[in-house]
Amino acid sequence: MGIMKEIDPLRLPQHIAIIMDGNGRWAELHTMGRILGHRKGAESVRIITKTCRRIGVRCLTLYAFSVENWLRPEAEIRALMNLLLQYLEDEAREMMDQGIRLTAIGDLDSLEAPVLRKLRETMEKTAGNQGMILNLALSYGGRDEIATAAKRMVGDALAGKIAPADVTRELFSKYLYTTGIPDPDLLIRTGGEYRVSNFLLYQMAYTEFYFTDILWPDFRETDLLTAIAEYQRRERRFGMTSEQIGGRSGNTMELSRESMPQTQGSVGGDCSRSRGGEE
Ligand code: FPP
Repeated sequence: MGIMKEIDPLRLPQHIAIIMDGNGRWAELHTMGRILGHRKGAESVRIITKTCRRIGVRCLTLYAFSVENWLRPEAEIRALMNLLLQYLEDEAREMMDQGIRLTAIGDLDSLEAPVLRKLRETMEKTAGNQGMILNLALSYGGRDEIATAAKRMVGDALAGKIAPADVTRELFSKYLYTTGIPDPDLLIRTGGEYRVSNFLLYQMAYTEFYFTDILWPDFRETDLLTAIAEYQRRERRFGMTSEQIGGRSGNTMELSRESMPQTQGSVGGDCSRSRGGEE
């Protein structure tokens, strides 16, 4: 595939986060109900996960259901939950075959019992897999995540486990849902909107953003590779100057992993073990 030639396998984004937007509009465009748009979107999930695994991305976080999505019509919520359940049932084997470890972030206890049960079962089953992390954001909200972390931290402080002086960005990160997972290097949002929609607010301080008009059900391997190629053309300076980070030819990826004193990746999540390519 032509676009693959443009990609440097040694400078892949280790963690890609995706806001999968546009299922409803895709359905409307094809004169179908919204639910069929979500079903088609689940196909993109399968394809993009496979591609990430194949090219050596270490972690893929997908925004599958936000806390705000609970406000959608009952029938749509039901369909999304059924789709998720079906996805977990269908894909568990594939995850094992491909060495994919499933994790999830969000207010998972608010999911209905059968979905939560299947989710936990799949997470347990795949816990030892080392190839890639597939992290599903479910009933997820960035502000809720931060508030929940603060609540737990205050609890620990009141219990005498931590003191105010212990509170650093690194410690705070450990209270977030994403503990152990490095911050996303690249955020992709499909569907032509330009906002973060309460997604990974704390973690995306230095994430590169890539927006595309392509609707999620149409998003395919070439589109992912195009986003990665664009990511690799950017210079990540983390607030420093171009000279400081070694100019455009410098390996800013190394910087993001090792030189940044409080990058979440430094807490040693599975994603931070290797950089690009197969182990
Ligand atoms: C946003 O599109 C998409 C969602 C709220 C749900 C995403 C779900 C999937 C891609 C399928 C199921 C997921 C998995 C992991 C199996 P939208 O409905 O807001 O689209 P619109 O903006 O065009 O209305």
